[in-house]
Amino acid sequence: MSSIEIEDRLGITFCSRQAIAIESGKGCLVWDEKGSEYLDFTSGWGVTCLGHAHPLITEAITQQAQKIIQNPNSGFTYSPSRAKLLEALSGVLPDNLAKIYFANSGAEANDAAIKLARKITGKSRIVSTLASFHGRTFNTLSVSGGRDNAEKFLPALEENCFVPFGDFPALNAAIDEKTAAVILEPIQGEGGVRIPNEKYLAAVALLCKERGVLLIIDEIQTGFCRTGKFFAIEHSQVNIAPDIMTMGKGIAGGFPFAAFAVSESVDRQLGMGDHGGTFCGNPLACAVATAVVNHLQDENVADRVVVAGKLLIDGLQKIKVKYSELVGPVRGKGLLCAFELDSDQMVTKVTDAALNRGLLVTPTRNRIIRLIPPLIVTEEEIARGLELLDSALASVVPKH
Ligand SMILES: Cc1ncc(COP(=O)(O)O)c(C=O)c1O
Repeated sequence: MSSIEIEDRLGITFCSRQAIAIESGKGCLVWDEKGSEYLDFTSGWGVTCLGHAHPLITEAITQQAQKIIQNPNSGFTYSPSRAKLLEALSGVLPDNLAKIYFANSGAEANDAAIKLARKITGKSRIVSTLASFHGRTFNTLSVSGGRDNAEKFLPALEENCFVPFGDFPALNAAIDEKTAAVILEPIQGEGGVRIPNEKYLAAVALLCKERGVLLIIDEIQTGFCRTGKFFAIEHSQVNIAPDIMTMGKGIAGGFPFAAFAVSESVDRQLGMGDHGGTFCGNPLACAVATAVVNHLQDENVADRVVVAGKLLIDGLQKIKVKYSELVGPVRGKGLLCAFELDSDQMVTKVTDAALNRGLLVTPTRNRIIRLIPPLIVTEEEIARGLELLDSALASVVPKH
């Protein structure tokens, strides 16, 4: 029986799948179990920032695995591996974020941020944005603006509310005396790479301060150089000082890991037993994340993302002109890019046509395809990816 048949028979399936079983990868390339090669412009949901099988990552895993994988009484004891990562991260975080804690997934980091914001403020309401995505735990689903998800699991945490992303007056109006925090992605990822007006984040940060509500910035998709800065809030002209910032995905280049960092003032209000978890700050994950964070910083990866991102966006703009009847708006910051098509059915068709030509892209709700290549993608690979995408679009528009 093939792996596809076994998975279909024994695995729970929560989404429709492409009939391809990926077995290995190197850099921006992956191979399926039959040996067919694909260019990966997904980075596994924006995670494998250094590409597949990067020697730094495999080396960090091997070396740490030979020492220790899970600490005895993890949270009760100290760990050199965790200490190294804390030092590395504190060198790249916004200055006001003084303390860091580790989690196993982005949703878990956001869940903790929401829970702790409620404890600190003694208030329960979280203001979020429409089309946002913050995770699939119950807390995070209840602040994720793609309502089609949450409505299956009613009753939701009803006090929370959603305002259009980028709409400052709406956000201002939504904050009331019950509001504990505002949660915001600097650029909406799952929402289709929505980039707000450049003054929006600074205005929101000031508003939160003035109104005494916490600002939770979710950098899970946008962090770790993905948008051409170490964190996307750094694109703002004005210094943004979140009360809590959550991180995940690229933080450990593919190893499941996440983190949240808090200001001094938030940290002062946290106490024993407020949070924890069996695997939080696991030495193996910390060793991998340290290797990734140091590499991103030492090699100035953010700067090369700016150059590569421009090539990709310019290419997408040309494709939009060529297929103007099919391709709608193109958006991107660094190597987080997206373009719109005229229907979700067309997204499926183009995604399948790209797959058949050896290119993996990320179909996204609301008629969008995202392109999120590894940050180490070369000029040649970008050119090749655009060629394959062009050919995929041509195949669904017969006249080209
Ligand atoms: C902005 C953002 N926050 C949170 C999450 C949830 O992260 P995870 O899937 O690791 O739980 C995602 C995942 O796509 C995300 O894009």
